[in-house]
Amino acid sequence: MIEVSAPGKLYIAGEYAVVETGHPAIIVAVDQFVTVTMNAARKIGSIQSTQYSDLPIRWTRRNGELVLDIRENPFHYILAAIRLTEKYAQEKNVLLSFYDLKVTSELDSSNGRKYGLGSSGAVTVATIKALNAFYGLQLDLLEIFKLAALAHLEVQGNGSCGDIAASCYGGWLAFSTFDHEWIKTQQKNCSVTQLLQMDWPGLLIKPLNAPKDLRLIIGWTGSPASTSDLVDRVHQSKQQQQTRYKEFLSESKKCVEQIIQGFLTDDVHLIQQMIRKNRRLLNELSHLTGVTIETAALKELCDLAETFDGAAKSSGAGGGDCGIVLFNQKSGILPLMSAWEKAEITPLPLHVYNRPRKD
Ligand code: MEV
Repeated sequence: MIEVSAPGKLYIAGEYAVVETGHPAIIVAVDQFVTVTMNAARKIGSIQSTQYSDLPIRWTRRNGELVLDIRENPFHYILAAIRLTEKYAQEKNVLLSFYDLKVTSELDSSNGRKYGLGSSGAVTVATIKALNAFYGLQLDLLEIFKLAALAHLEVQGNGSCGDIAASCYGGWLAFSTFDHEWIKTQQKNCSVTQLLQMDWPGLLIKPLNAPKDLRLIIGWTGSPASTSDLVDRVHQSKQQQQTRYKEFLSESKKCVEQIIQGFLTDDVHLIQQMIRKNRRLLNELSHLTGVTIETAALKELCDLAETFDGAAKSSGAGGGDCGIVLFNQKSGILPLMSAWEKAEITPLPLHVYNRPRKD
């Protein structure tokens, strides 16, 4: 039996700007996992996902019409990951075979609600890692990232793929996305093997060492929103606000570059200042686009953290889900936990996940 896992992620800074090539984000992998097991099968294979088996298929309306929310369905990610990895295997003259594949996830709550920890990215990465072992493909980390990014783009189309980078590499990362139009053009004429061999313009995946006094605390406010819908809505309204949107992009880039500098020089104070600045920038983006990123519950999460000297902001697409707080050493953390619990904010007992060296 093959068993592999891929961790979830949290965005620390640079959200929304990171969907544009050349605009970095800080992302961290956390110690909750999607696990894929694979067993060889005969003639007929199976795919089972505990993330999905008992859940209703969610649907929404676009222009009044009912549409299935396929981007929330892990099977699409699993199938896209299998299709691309098997295409690559065939290019390497590997004989395809049958298997039973089972996915279990710690990234969704027991009633199927998402915590916003990047379960679709992690399921894509874990599926590719399992097939890598099953077919003996010897894909390295960057190749796994590229395959997972291609699979993810097939299904979702509008994300930065930062969650995939965190899930592949683990730890703290500075990440900028590749030129998506360039890759779409290359895909028309290139084999998967060629795509994996190319340098992807704009792509940056830079592991960072966290300053030793930096403490990350995570709170969950419930009411998760669909990331891809929020990204679509920001994308639609930015067209009318080109100048201010460009200002947001350049300010976000400067802010995240300062955070990277803070990591390189062990300067927790600078990192905290820039987390606060990024929160303000995201609130400005909200005003610009009419998309609620920091909900009332996330505002309370952040404001409470600030009273204990934590630097806080929403994490990821916002509209619900998680907020993050960065502390300089431990003081303030315990009183914040009590204050959050009184305000019905759930502290999530997550830690940074660093990949073992041999992996
Ligand atoms: C969502 O987790 C983070 C966004 O920047 C979207 C993305 O990077 O794909 C809002």
